[in-house]
Amino acid sequence: MKSLLIKNGRIIHTNGHGDADILIQNDSIADMGKNLMIPEGTDILDATDQWVFPGVIDPHTHMGIPIKNGSSADTFATGSRSALHGGVTTILDFTVLESGQSLQQSLDTRIELAKASVCDVGLHVNITRFEPELLEEIPLLIKNGFTSFKVFTTYEEAGMMLDYNQIEAVASIIGEHGGVLMVHSEDNQVINEASAPYTEGVQTHPRFHGLSRPASAESVAVRTLGEISNRSNCTIYIVHLNTAEGLSIASQYPLLKVETCPHYLLLTDDVYEQPDGRMYVASPPLRKQADQDALWQGIQAGSIHTIGSDHCPFCLADKPKGRPFQDIPNGMGGVETLFPTLLAQFVKRGINLSLLVQLTSHNAAQIFGLRGQKGDLAPGCHADLLIVDPTNISNDWEKDLDTILDWNAYAGLPALFPSTVIRRGEIVISNWKTATRSQGVLLKSST
Ligand code: URP
Ligand code: ZN
Ligand code: ZN
Repeated sequence: MKSLLIKNGRIIHTNGHGDADILIQNDSIADMGKNLMIPEGTDILDATDQWVFPGVIDPHTHMGIPIKNGSSADTFATGSRSALHGGVTTILDFTVLESGQSLQQSLDTRIELAKASVCDVGLHVNITRFEPELLEEIPLLIKNGFTSFKVFTTYEEAGMMLDYNQIEAVASIIGEHGGVLMVHSEDNQVINEASAPYTEGVQTHPRFHGLSRPASAESVAVRTLGEISNRSNCTIYIVHLNTAEGLSIASQYPLLKVETCPHYLLLTDDVYEQPDGRMYVASPPLRKQADQDALWQGIQAGSIHTIGSDHCPFCLADKPKGRPFQDIPNGMGGVETLFPTLLAQFVKRGINLSLLVQLTSHNAAQIFGLRGQKGDLAPGCHADLLIVDPTNISNDWEKDLDTILDWNAYAGLPALFPSTVIRRGEIVISNWKTATRSQGVLLKSST
């Protein structure tokens, strides 16, 4: 049996911290505490004066997906490699429902691609067409451990949108069978009205991207989805929530779970004025300082449940200079910087690090049925963990990323990268260098 002891670390739990040793046997945590019984031949890793966190779960990535005017630049192989380098030991990505496919076929296709991943990977099932045969598949998928589904209230032009009545029908089935419905929540009618002035090809600068998808689009969608969650008794997970008003509305509905993203917490719409402003075109767009402040307050108040990267990266050449904002592929990378930039902010702002653990691993495990495997440092859980030297904070890290991308939205911001990353008992990052490692494992929900 392979055995590893992490000695003398400060363990950051969801509800406090404490100094303890962690004994890992094969891929799981076997024991924790002081004066443990250590089998002969156990390797020792000294973590004195270091923080030990559960491996991060990024609940929202898009590896190699087709998108208007492009395809996101990371594959499962390259994106998961970056993920590990930033402390993300599990990604939850999405299926792509191609024309004529059943939900199961879309899952099978994506599982094949996801096998290239070097971190663990789970898949949410996208429902981008409203057809009776697709809805009939939902109960069996949930029974088989694929419990989370995603719909879009917009992207009508891409043929991905469901209207609110259709979403309610989907939510009713998912609610009845104990699954979770994730929703990209921007109201399509509000977007259509707000975009009208920009369709003539005159105002094409990236700054107009934000104006064409106003904050009110989120408010309308979130309120409607809140009502749907009440009527259908379905947990609805609002992906990439980004506005003060959206958050305030979401907080009124007990069955809504709220995810926000690093770009809404760390950047504002000023970036659209920069020479590389086009690179920040993502949907929903970046918002005002007041929205960002409200999100940070929401984090402290517990009204935001998870932080996902919405990793959908593009290289500089993928978003050529001078293109009208309407034709720029939407999305930004962030899986590698998700945890390190947030950790640095939590330290700077003096926010309890247990809250960070809740937001970046524990709550996602809870919502997506991975409790007992992921999201906690406890005996029996997968040995996914990060060791961080608190003195290692730096603004100069971009050149050392393990990425194929040539642009990073967070370059120059403070970040605190893990020096060691352990995935299922295997040291996959050591001294912030990528080590040889085996493939990741496809996860299913345990609920
Ligand atoms: O701009 C983004 N976020 N692209 C990825 C797809 C989505 O809507 O999350
Ligand atoms: Zn989205
Ligand atoms: Zn997304």
